[in-house]
Amino acid sequence: MLKENIFNLLLLTITISLVSCYSTKTNKTNLSTNIITPGAVWPDDDGNHIQAHGGGIIKVADTWYWFGEYRGKDVEKDYRYVGCYSSTDLVHWKFLNKIKFSAPDGVSPDGWILERPKVFYNEKSKKYVMYFHLDDKNYKLAEVGVAVSDKIDKGYQIVKHFRPFRNESRDIGQFIDDDGTAYLIYESRPTKGFFIASLTDDHLDVKENLSFIKERIEGGAIVFYEGLYYIIGSHLTGWNPNPNLYSSSKSLRGPWAVFKNVAPPETNTYSSQSTMLLKVKGRKNTTVLYLGDMWKPNEQWDSRYLWMPMEIGEGNLRLPPPRPFKIDVKDGASQIID
Ligand code: DGJ
Repeated sequence: MLKENIFNLLLLTITISLVSCYSTKTNKTNLSTNIITPGAVWPDDDGNHIQAHGGGIIKVADTWYWFGEYRGKDVEKDYRYVGCYSSTDLVHWKFLNKIKFSAPDGVSPDGWILERPKVFYNEKSKKYVMYFHLDDKNYKLAEVGVAVSDKIDKGYQIVKHFRPFRNESRDIGQFIDDDGTAYLIYESRPTKGFFIASLTDDHLDVKENLSFIKERIEGGAIVFYEGLYYIIGSHLTGWNPNPNLYSSSKSLRGPWAVFKNVAPPETNTYSSQSTMLLKVKGRKNTTVLYLGDMWKPNEQWDSRYLWMPMEIGEGNLRLPPPRPFKIDVKDGASQIID
């Protein structure tokens, strides 16, 4: 037993040092060669490390927009900020704005929390609707905040905040199905599981809980691929990485297959936490990208991103060991660079 524990500890130490040595060696995503390097500093068009942590990405026409927590050092104390970037190739990101929010009515500005922002575009109202995890400094509120704007990168006003169907809601994830239907994934501690809820036509509220999955998982994300829905999420270990799990189902209403590890558990998902599964559908191929956060709780501005093409199909989802890769968004293919 002791021998086995020592062996496992040794294996874990070797894996962690390999991953971190590899990230510091190739410590910048190389914009001139179009190579994305997981875990590296990722400069935007101004040369600053991208600030879109716990993020979400939507595509409008031919452009992707990446929203996430803006944790730069240039923030003011009582405000929270959402970073917004655009790209046409998923490698080069143009900084558009850091959208500033003050604490909404009924929430004390002292240490208030805005995490994991996700934006949906509403075709009917032509408005952008942002959801985020809203909390007080002790994480007791557990609500979603909803902000609306006519413009994708500015002018958001918080219009409401609530607990979906009166459930606690902490980490949220977004999913937009191929038919455009929008879903919110939210984690609720007292129910010891998480929910997938559809949004109303105007996207301003939750419409129906389609699934309640009795698995204590946060950082939830979904992708639809070749007839199956795949869902991924992490255990509840704060900012520390853990072995993320996945499941699949023919329907968002379930039944969901037994959850399995997405990567060897001793790697703790290569030191990352899921935030989104992005389907890049090109003319010939489709790549599903794992988008994860490598949090640095004491230096949040330097938290990194672990993006990697996933191995997916027939109910299996695997996050391969992180390697630099290229993605051709027109073709939909990705290529690992050795
Ligand atoms: C884990 C969550 O996934 C993060 O978004 C953040 O809320 C941390 N917990 C805070 O400890």
